Amino acid sequence: MSNNRAATTQQSFPMNGGDGPHSYLNNSNLQRKATDACRTMIEEAIAQKLDVKCFSSNPFRLADLGCSVGPNTFKAMQHIVEAVERKYLAQGLKSEMPEFQVFFNDHVANDFNTLFASLPTERRYFACGVPGSFHDRLFPESSIHFMFSSHALHWLSKVPEELLDKNSPAWNRGRIHCTSAPDEVSHAYAAQFDHDVEIFLNARAKELVVGGMIVLLIPALPNGIPASQSPFGVMFDLLGASLMDMAKEGLINEAQVDSFNLPVYAASREQMTDLVKRNGCFTIERMELVYPTSKLVDRFCGNECGMLLRAGMEGIIAKHFGSGIIDELFDRFSKKSVEFSHQLESSKRGGAQLFAALRRK
Ligand SMILES: C[S@@+](CC[C@H](N)C(=O)[O-])C[C@H]1O[C@@H](n2cnc3c(N)ncnc32)[C@H](O)[C@@H]1O
Repeated sequence: MSNNRAATTQQSFPMNGGDGPHSYLNNSNLQRKATDACRTMIEEAIAQKLDVKCFSSNPFRLADLGCSVGPNTFKAMQHIVEAVERKYLAQGLKSEMPEFQVFFNDHVANDFNTLFASLPTERRYFACGVPGSFHDRLFPESSIHFMFSSHALHWLSKVPEELLDKNSPAWNRGRIHCTSAPDEVSHAYAAQFDHDVEIFLNARAKELVVGGMIVLLIPALPNGIPASQSPFGVMFDLLGASLMDMAKEGLINEAQVDSFNLPVYAASREQMTDLVKRNGCFTIERMELVYPTSKLVDRFCGNECGMLLRAGMEGIIAKHFGSGIIDELFDRFSKKSVEFSHQLESSKRGGAQLFAALRRK
């Protein structure tokens, strides 16, 4: 049942666990606000496109893929449960109102203890944890009615292999991402994303009931904006430059920087649309870019920016360079983000996320 190919080659770098100062729990405001910005779109997708009459089974099963440690996932799940309840009422199905079961999915190494310790006591659903990669099967066939995934699908299953081959034109010397890199590097990232999304959609197509829906929110790149002018692009360039400074000072080895790449990728609306159409198992009910960063973030630099990046990237950096460099690296990054605050500020207009509502055919 499980796709062992994926299980053996995938990499997993969960967000910082616990509830300390560097935890995802305390440094994920931006993601929460970005999800909140799509509240109405989620409600509309459920009200207009989810035909609950065609679901025969009770309970109504709902999954959050890449849920991390909360609290964002709890807010999103509560919101979706309420929207589905309203849909049952609107369709005259009050007497058939189901019970709800929510599956919280993330990598095995995710801090599920913190997640479950902070489950809201007032929740109107039964909660389960589902450890494992969403680039693989997670649920039995035709068992889930609604899936949600926010700020997770941009994580690739692994760094594209060409980037690690010194003889390849995609060898990414002195950089840590496809931002500001030669075309070969960008193509390798895009191809890895295509491959991962194909596996993701195939798995979800098996797991969703016919008529079931999946709503995706992912950081995205608007047409005409180069990655180097998007918020993540500027941040990754500054993080790469901070690592290179440390290499020049002998604090780390330059070869270590050359062999380090972040496995995250911002797709365009067009690329995602093509992938869904090519897969063929879903109808696209809505696929739209929204621009929360420019509206939601006042000052996008300094310590706050460093903490946001650290909560997500500390694990992968520590694994490659050792945990000893983390404080120094993010201190340098925060200072650089102030020095280049004009770049970060103007990148906010490229801070888009893609909203996709897909329905299983
Ligand atoms: C930035 S967090 C987003 C958390 C939450 N959805 C939110 O919006 O705040 C991304 C999460 O996706 C998870 N993730 C990334 N790739 C994954 C995969 N292949 N399978 C399951 N979870 C994955 C990470 O472990 C991380 O917890």
